[in-house]
Amino acid sequence: NQAGRGSFTWSAPSNIALVKYWGKKQGQVPANPSVSFTLNNCKTITKLDFEKKEGKSDFSFDLLFEGKPKEDFKPKILKFFQRVEQYVPFLKEYHFTIHTENTFPHSSGIASSASGMAALAMNLMSLERELNPEMTDEYFYQKASFLARLGSGSACRSVKGNIVVWGEHKDINGSSDLFGVAFTGTVHPVFHNYQDTILLVDKGEKQVSSTVGHGLMHGHPFAQQRFAQAHENLSAIKKALAGGNVEEFITIVESEALTLHAMMMTSQPYFILMKPNTLEIINRIWKFRAETNIPVCFTLDAGANVHVLYPESYTNQVMEFIKAELVAYCQNSQYICDATGNGAIIL
Ligand code: PMV
Repeated sequence: NQAGRGSFTWSAPSNIALVKYWGKKQGQVPANPSVSFTLNNCKTITKLDFEKKEGKSDFSFDLLFEGKPKEDFKPKILKFFQRVEQYVPFLKEYHFTIHTENTFPHSSGIASSASGMAALAMNLMSLERELNPEMTDEYFYQKASFLARLGSGSACRSVKGNIVVWGEHKDINGSSDLFGVAFTGTVHPVFHNYQDTILLVDKGEKQVSSTVGHGLMHGHPFAQQRFAQAHENLSAIKKALAGGNVEEFITIVESEALTLHAMMMTSQPYFILMKPNTLEIINRIWKFRAETNIPVCFTLDAGANVHVLYPESYTNQVMEFIKAELVAYCQNSQYICDATGNGAIIL
């Protein structure tokens, strides 16, 4: 092997799904296709130091989060290494030191699993490229997404920008259940640099882990209809993106968010992941939109925080509205301004 020791640093962003992934099959295969905006400012930066060991014993790595050893992240990384080892068989030949940090506030309720797993996967691919320098960029990014998926499903959509599809879909050429692909369809300029202001409603620990959440779709009474709906919504959003149909976009995106939560409210056991302030914010967004005709909408992850989405040209008006009316519903008045971005980069 060429690479004895060295280090790489990758930055990978978070992403926000427009059509949601909720439910999976064996081997991190999604039950339905999803599409997301890659974000720009919410990122994980991970430096990977590697050093060849004597022999091939077991996985060995140290983990530092914001410069300090972080034991409670280690089981997740170990599980990731175990899952990907068959695809990157050199892992046990190295000792790794993983230095990781996020650009968004610690315990903000913003999940770092997508950006974190993507950043780590990029680093592993950089090491693989040291060993096989002739690999193509296409192979590099596709396999990085493939590996990231094994860490956290949605992480496979954080490798590329600005719109990424994960999961086989009839209208998306080259789409796969095994990795995310950059959306190559037409995107109307209104969707360029689309804004996402993330309102931090509840910064607490997630009530339901996404692993448990996906599991609740097994035997869920509405699962099959939901998976079919995601396919239809992906076709419809592709058309809306091409035609610049923001109204249709809003209908799909808000319905997807509420459906995700509806699935959790109708599973066994059932959960309500929204907070009263989540609903206050949604109602105020609807009222503002009705009164001003400004095409602003919301989406949600599997939690209480609200992503406020709008075209760049309305940034001033929407930010004024957010500060005047919505920040009051955020924990410690906290929010993050983000927009669509280009995916992972090496530093
Ligand atoms: O990547 P996971 O397993 O944490 O699942 C994330 C699922 C949602 O964020 C709720 C939806 C999505 O498509 O990102």
